[in-house]
Amino acid sequence: MGLFRIKHTDFEQLFDTDGFDTMHSNEWEPEATGKGHNRLKDQGWENRYEYESALICNLIKENPHIKTVLELGSGPGSLSQKILKEYPNLTYHLVDKPFAKQYFEDNNFKGKFFVKDLSMDFNTEGLLNEYDLVITNDFLEHVLNPSIIVQNIYKLTNSNSFYFISNPNWRMSHQWIYRGLFDFDNFIYFLYTHKFELEGFYGSILKTPNYPKLDSETLLPNENLTDWNHYMIFKHRK
Ligand SMILES: C[S@@+](CC[C@H](N)C(=O)[O-])C[C@H]1O[C@@H](n2cnc3c(N)ncnc32)[C@H](O)[C@@H]1O
Repeated sequence: MGLFRIKHTDFEQLFDTDGFDTMHSNEWEPEATGKGHNRLKDQGWENRYEYESALICNLIKENPHIKTVLELGSGPGSLSQKILKEYPNLTYHLVDKPFAKQYFEDNNFKGKFFVKDLSMDFNTEGLLNEYDLVITNDFLEHVLNPSIIVQNIYKLTNSNSFYFISNPNWRMSHQWIYRGLFDFDNFIYFLYTHKFELEGFYGSILKTPNYPKLDSETLLPNENLTDWNHYMIFKHRK
């Protein structure tokens, strides 16, 4: 029996893994290295939240039964405030880490903020039994157990509910715990195995470098290959 050795064994150089943030409780702390509030003042982020809120407000307009919203990994809540400006009567719940809540409270944001560690489990205590819309924007790729999150989102929704996800394109050079899971086809498959079916998706206002299409992206139209992220709308299926 021969052991096959991989020639390139400088894994430190091959895998840049310093930036995993899910274990850090200091996310959104004002002084934390590069992860503080400052990005919220950036016009690029502001444009992005404007665009996202327009997509979600459109979904709510077309589905007026949407009265309750749960946003996981919301950050301090910039997106929620834009949505609540258009639809102030929504019941809007947000979940993230302590410093995100601090910013939310310091700015008198509307909605109800819950601090929970969603890294490996999702304790739903304090939340409603069901929501009409769940949002996870650029969040699932940050947690160690995305399956347990999606399983619980399934339990917190019904067949009239929507699940809105911003899924980053691997071309934007994120650091992934589960590389490949978030490739376009694989991600749709992952959601399908958790009983969520894709209705459709929107492209992004931001672009990535242009790398060739993978075998795990057969469902992704060529024109969307360099979208920084894809905004996917899923339905809970029986
Ligand atoms: C890339 S940011 C996205 C924030 C926001 N949804 C947006 O689009 O701007 C990922 C978010 O997930 C949150 N997050 C990461 N790990 C978490 C955990 N274990 N528990 C709760 N929130 C977590 C972070 O605090 C952060 O706000």
